[in-house]
Amino acid sequence: MEKDLQNKTVVITGGATGIGYAIADKFLNKRAKVVILLDIDEEKGAEAVKTLVTKYGDNKAVFYKCDVTKDLEAVYEKLINNFKVINVLVNNAGILNDLTVKKTMEINVVALLEWSFKFWEHMRTDKSGKGGTIINLSSIYGFRFDQYLPVYQASKSAVMAFTKSLGHRYNFTRFGVRVVAICPGFTKTSIVIDMKTWIPEVQEEFLTFTKQQLWQEAEAVGEAAVNVFETAESGTAWLIEGAKPISEVF
Ligand SMILES: NC(=O)c1ccc[n+]([C@@H]2O[C@H](COP(=O)([O-])OP(=O)(O)OC[C@H]3O[C@@H](n4cnc5c(N)ncnc54)[C@H](O)[C@@H]3O)[C@@H](O)[C@H]2O)c1
Repeated sequence: MEKDLQNKTVVITGGATGIGYAIADKFLNKRAKVVILLDIDEEKGAEAVKTLVTKYGDNKAVFYKCDVTKDLEAVYEKLINNFKVINVLVNNAGILNDLTVKKTMEINVVALLEWSFKFWEHMRTDKSGKGGTIINLSSIYGFRFDQYLPVYQASKSAVMAFTKSLGHRYNFTRFGVRVVAICPGFTKTSIVIDMKTWIPEVQEEFLTFTKQQLWQEAEAVGEAAVNVFETAESGTAWLIEGAKPISEVF
């Protein structure tokens, strides 16, 4: 399949800030046709579009207000009406708060699965779709487990399993949609400002632990997403940690 971002129409959930925004920036830098940022945060979304159009030109970035747990059907219709074909979906919206089990699972898992299926149907080549790529944001916590975040780790390992199964080489060969995962390590975004462990008793310990980890800026994950887009086979997952080169997670 064609692994070139040039002229691709890209949808990014949770794209107003952090990693989603960094992916939008790096994809436009690789000459994507347009990025559509979907987010609940209207203010940040408007700011993001302003910065991106200043940098890359009018019509290169668009923002739609969207809650991924509620607005799939309405936003999908709007996207197809306005853009006809979506080439890339980045399932990036996510939260990290182990005190909210259902909300974590609804945003990090259920919404990601439903958005994937919707766009997978649109892209599948056996039903006149044009093919495409779905990139799912998992985490180091999708395959490396510790005692602090059982809920978040359950959500991100579900993303890994889903990606490997839906993106399985059998499905890719038969239906023509590539599905891959990115697993970032600790990244300086707003999600890490107020991380909540599953019980308050381990909160302080966890924060001390995080200070000893490898950190990176969101830009490193944006670059990693470009590398993954340009090289990865369907059903694979890629670690990006401490801004080091990407490596495959088996
Ligand atoms: N920052 C890290 O250390 C790190 C590490 C590994 C994986 N990740 C994953 O990367 C992804 C992006 O996180 P980030 O670090 O950029 O955090 P972030 O908080 O900066 O960005 C997340 C974005 O998602 C949006 N969002 C939240 N709920 C939403 C909803 N219901 N509908 C639509 N948008 C919603 C937020 O408004 C925000 O703009 C997440 O899936 C996160 O789990 C982050």
